[in-house]
Amino acid sequence: MPYPNLQLPGKMESLEIKNRVVMTAASCSLASPDGCATENLLAYYERRAQGGVGLIITEMTCVDETYGILVAGSLSAARDEAVEELRKLPERIHPHGTKIFAQLIHPGHNADPRLNRTPLLSASPVRGKYGKADAREATSEEIFTIARQFGMAARRLKESGFDGVEIHGAHHYLIHSFLSPVTNRRTDEFGGDVTSRARFLRLIMESVRGQCGRDFPVMVRISLEEYIGSQGYHADTGIKICQMLEAWGASAINVSASGTASKLSQSVEPTAFMQGWRRHLARAVKKTVSIPVCTVALVRDPAFAESLITEGYTDFVGSARSHLADPDWAKKAFQGRDRDINRCIGCMSCFEMYPQEKHITCAICPETGYEAQYPAIHKDGEGRTVLVLGAGPGGMQAALVAARRGFSVTVYERQEQPGGQLLLACLPPRKEKMNWLIQYLYRQCLKANVQFVFNTCPSTQTLEARKPHAIVDATGGTFVIPSSMEGAGTSPLVCTPEHALLHSNEICGESIVIVGSGMTGLETAEVLCEREKNNAIVVMEAASRIAPGAHGSNRNSVTAVLDINNVVFMLNRTLTRIGTDRIWFCDTNSGEEFVYPCDRVVLALGTLPADPYKETLKKICPIVRQVGDARKSGKIWHAVHDGYLSACSL
Ligand SMILES: Cc1cc2nc3c(=O)[nH]c(=O)nc-3n(C[C@H](O)[C@H](O)[C@H](O)COP(=O)(O)O)c2cc1C
Ligand code: SF4
Repeated sequence: MPYPNLQLPGKMESLEIKNRVVMTAASCSLASPDGCATENLLAYYERRAQGGVGLIITEMTCVDETYGILVAGSLSAARDEAVEELRKLPERIHPHGTKIFAQLIHPGHNADPRLNRTPLLSASPVRGKYGKADAREATSEEIFTIARQFGMAARRLKESGFDGVEIHGAHHYLIHSFLSPVTNRRTDEFGGDVTSRARFLRLIMESVRGQCGRDFPVMVRISLEEYIGSQGYHADTGIKICQMLEAWGASAINVSASGTASKLSQSVEPTAFMQGWRRHLARAVKKTVSIPVCTVALVRDPAFAESLITEGYTDFVGSARSHLADPDWAKKAFQGRDRDINRCIGCMSCFEMYPQEKHITCAICPETGYEAQYPAIHKDGEGRTVLVLGAGPGGMQAALVAARRGFSVTVYERQEQPGGQLLLACLPPRKEKMNWLIQYLYRQCLKANVQFVFNTCPSTQTLEARKPHAIVDATGGTFVIPSSMEGAGTSPLVCTPEHALLHSNEICGESIVIVGSGMTGLETAEVLCEREKNNAIVVMEAASRIAPGAHGSNRNSVTAVLDINNVVFMLNRTLTRIGTDRIWFCDTNSGEEFVYPCDRVVLALGTLPADPYKETLKKICPIVRQVGDARKSGKIWHAVHDGYLSACSL
């Protein structure tokens, strides 16, 4: 039996959980505007239950609809009428043998001011996250009211058939704002030493226990270490809080770290972090309390999850993103099919794409968030030929879906291996997870009988001779060289990020300007600024801030490295001309001109569709789909989703 400890049933109070795999909370914004479970939300959670997790913890669920709505589309347990609505969730999850807890939260100063009464609430006055709305100190009366609201919400969830609740005491939301000395500067009985700062949490525990009784499982999520500098609290204080929680009747501790106040996003880590980097926090709790411990620690491999249990780090192994990226993570692990798991690559698109998609999605699992909307894949391809041009993520995703539909699929790739431009994305330091996606898609394609022809750019005659039913153009993009700019096409200084990344070992001792501070520009800088290379690097950006389109945590994890390597950022600077030993640029706002001598200019200005076949594909095949960068410059999310949808539409 693979991973016997992970498969072992576990207990919280008298509740038996069929295995040790926990899907931790992930706000999905799939609820209705009034906080009820929609079919989209039910199908999303049910899919994870079908995938074999032992326990699902829902997204943050509202307890107070006056000051405590986190974002639109969050579940709510703040009203008695919610009981009937909430019942739908356990009813959909329980038939799969999975247990379900609801995570109860008051977001405090992180609430969306557009959805709440303002000023928002916090332990002490603090700057809010959205729209710069400041939060005020919660009054003593409000503190008692909110504690009661947690209890009443927990009671409603119990009545709705939920197996337990998780109180969200982490990630710098309201409870955490009381626990942290940075945000709690109160002088009343709720401020001061850690016992006083934890008094609000104690009131909540008492209220929940009072409403739900002693045997109802109540897990509490705590950021054991704040990671916000010396002013924040550390694991020694975190352990004290956990010990107090045990004494107050908590059933289990869910160990997390940091939160919204940290720039480096240790609570939801970008790709640069290593699997298991924060497991020591879980072990510190496990060794100092006697109630069960659950933890997240960027767990991606079942073998690593198993080791966390065997080596005594934790009792339950949590992850949200592993189950967003592959809802069958647990099932595949228990069937010994580890290599078929689509492992989360930490790209952060699940956050980045919220504004566009309005709900949770995953870059590498196109069905996530659309479970109720995307049709099941039917075997209707009838062996007809589909030709895919390019073995990048978009091309392989399209090939996989087409093959699963029963088409006969051939992928042509000009390079000697699959991956396309994702191969470049693997080159910067700490980006090796990008390769996981290449390997996953390639393996699944081979298993689905997709044929690969490498080192080949087929002619239109070759393609036509195959009499294709459809062609998927996934030929990717080429880096933009602005032809109208003086010197861009002729100066010996100019190179592309592709060239710089592939030949980085030969680029030493140079003064380099990287034009464009998107993630490609930043990561190229990260490679070129390595100490031994001894390059002097300027990153130039026309906008007023670095990487305006990138997720903050991805950006910050690279800029932290660039800062210590003396990389200089010139913002509001627009390149105008490139000479043979210098460049000219102007202030984006005032137009003032500057000159800067240098040895190399890396133009990281995005990509344009490569379009090697121009209009010819349409002449030889009635169905042509362009996916990924061949359609429009985008991220992995766009390539994979394009590939999926285009193959569904053939
Ligand atoms: C899209 C998304 C939404 C999240 N929402 C919540 C949430 O509602 N409550 C919470 O405590 N944690 C939330 N998290 C954090 C996860 O539960 C988890 O702790 C974090 O993603 C790190 O573990 P993982 O990378 O293994 O998922 C969220 C994470 C993601 C990616
Ligand atoms: S979008 Fe990226 S970070 Fe989020 S779950 Fe999917 S792979 Fe992981």
